[in-house]
Amino acid sequence: MSRIAYVNGRYLPHGDAGVSVDDRGFQFADGVYEVCEVRGGKLVDERRHMARLQRSLDLLRMDRPMSVASLAIVMRETIRRNRVSDGVVYVQVTRGEMRRDFPFPPAGTPPTLVVTARTNNLARIEAQAEAGIAVITVPDDRWRHVDIKSVSLLPNVLAKQTARDKGAREAWLVDAQGRVTEGASSTAWIVTREGVLVTRPLAGDILPGITRSVLIDLVKAQGLRFEERPFTVEEAYAAREAFVTSASQSIMPVVEIDGRPVGNRAPGTAASALRRDYHSKAEFT
Ligand code: PDD
Repeated sequence: MSRIAYVNGRYLPHGDAGVSVDDRGFQFADGVYEVCEVRGGKLVDERRHMARLQRSLDLLRMDRPMSVASLAIVMRETIRRNRVSDGVVYVQVTRGEMRRDFPFPPAGTPPTLVVTARTNNLARIEAQAEAGIAVITVPDDRWRHVDIKSVSLLPNVLAKQTARDKGAREAWLVDAQGRVTEGASSTAWIVTREGVLVTRPLAGDILPGITRSVLIDLVKAQGLRFEERPFTVEEAYAAREAFVTSASQSIMPVVEIDGRPVGNRAPGTAASALRRDYHSKAEFT
């Protein structure tokens, strides 16, 4: 079965789908995106993802390509046409098409909208969660607006490749003070020796992760000890547990940081329990 992409009003096989060479996304990474989990054919936390998409568009002064209601229909139709039951749906909006020039295109230039969907190998992700993943740390050399979910992801790509080259799944980005900001494509968390869950606060220097926000609701509802504060790499080395969160993998235990074991190099009990409970707090639509 060929994969189907929605591009500016049409559903096309990926081989025939494309945007103009003059698209602002291609020329300048002048675009934003969202990745939303699909479970049992339903969207997970769609409302929060759509609110974050609106925030990204507003901060970059970009027009919406269509209403929230229409986009909801296109996302579901893309999921349906790709027969995705468990996976992700990807939404990308760019500032449209214009002969290459830095200033914005004239008012009224239609934004480009691309929606794709793909099936995830749940068994593989589950096996990964049972084993836990390794992360490495690299300097966070991204621009200052990483709270916007922009498609400008080159530093993240380079960090992720460095991780892969070193046999790790994820890279943790580290600020000038030696504190972890977030993963290249995930939110970073630790559980201290005292059993306190810690993740960095939202202060413009990390992406406001949707999985992060839902998990905080869950952690509070369960009455777990939780602190929103930056943590250092040293603190992470000494942590009882570590894990990352993102839409595509929910909660993924981290068992190794820079080659050093976290705890006894096995997924922690807190991370595993939160992974089990996560979807009880998530919204399915
Ligand atoms: N990545 N931080 C960064 C830099 C991310 O790219 C992501 C998500 C997250 C977690 O956000 P959320 O919980 O909303 O998925 C944090 C997505 C999955 C991606 O780029 O594929």
